[in-house]
Amino acid sequence: MNVHGRPTRTIWPSSDGAAVEIIDQTRLPHEFATARLATLADAAHAIRAMLVRGAPLIGAAAAWGMWLALREDASDAGLARAHATLLATRPTAVNLRWALDRVRAAAAPLAPGTRAAAARTLAIDICDEDVALNRAIGAAGLPLIRAIATRKPAGQPVNLLTHCNAGWLATVDVGTATAPIYAAHDAGIPLHVWVDETRPRNQGASLTAWELLNHGVPHTVISDNAGGHLMQHGHVDLVIVGTDRTTAHGDVCNKIGTYLKALAAHDNGVPFYVAAPSPSIDWTLRDGRREIPIEERAAREVSHVSGRLADGTVATIDILPAGSAAANPAFDVTPARLVTGLVTERGVCAANAKSLKTLFPEK
Ligand code: MRU
Repeated sequence: MNVHGRPTRTIWPSSDGAAVEIIDQTRLPHEFATARLATLADAAHAIRAMLVRGAPLIGAAAAWGMWLALREDASDAGLARAHATLLATRPTAVNLRWALDRVRAAAAPLAPGTRAAAARTLAIDICDEDVALNRAIGAAGLPLIRAIATRKPAGQPVNLLTHCNAGWLATVDVGTATAPIYAAHDAGIPLHVWVDETRPRNQGASLTAWELLNHGVPHTVISDNAGGHLMQHGHVDLVIVGTDRTTAHGDVCNKIGTYLKALAAHDNGVPFYVAAPSPSIDWTLRDGRREIPIEERAAREVSHVSGRLADGTVATIDILPAGSAAANPAFDVTPARLVTGLVTERGVCAANAKSLKTLFPEK
């Protein structure tokens, strides 16, 4: 997508060939800054501290992290250490394991001297594949939005609601949940997006709003609790969110608060779609609520908020009474029965094992 008029991805090899560069997402929306990752430790830190985040981008960053690690130590022990170190950064997004396993499987049979180069080639492929998958999700999801637009009085926008950031910042480019949105906008369909602020880290307010603004998509940021009310009053035509891990039976794990949106959508007859590229599907799991590891992040993300002060400086402030405890489960699981459909790179299917198997018979 464009930043300051220039096509930009979220991660790319540095021009000197010695490192990887990323958009530092902890600085958005108030500053567009990049960071350079040159070591395994840099890559692990970037994922853990969420300089890069979003399931597909976590996977892509991990693949690049394997390259950085294998440059340092390409022995069997080095390969195992790199895989274990990166796998431990964030537990919920299955794309992390998917990318790490892929690089390890490609590197392990090779002579140590050639492993780093192979990992680099694969990291580039994983990034390019991610963009292609997201474009395919855009094409698959566009008819859902177009169908609603044709039922609306002329000129009235389709109202979408999204949670967290499953946009291009969460991927290498294009995004998953935003792919059909950008495709519809670019096709001239009038749209308006309700953007959940997504406490505690505010990925909706700081990232989704930023990228929609950059692309010229009309949007309104709302508090996380407003969605149910808007749905009750007919102001939401369709909900579309991303996923960190979807089970083979269609249970969807995504950013905390997604489940509540699905419940409200179900109660109000609003279609609830999940953009799910195949690397985000965990074919080994059945029951999302019992089997998916839910990341517990620092209580400080709940007790403190960051923002820009009137003088332009960015500050972090404490919003809790001294002595109150805070808890921070970072993801929740929406049962398949609340999901209208999964928008995959191979088309839209029902959130159940049979439909997923029809689209992905090889799994
Ligand atoms: O904690 P985050 O910001 O990594 O959580 C991101 C999400 O929950 C996204 O919706 C999900 O990773 C899908 S991104 C295409």
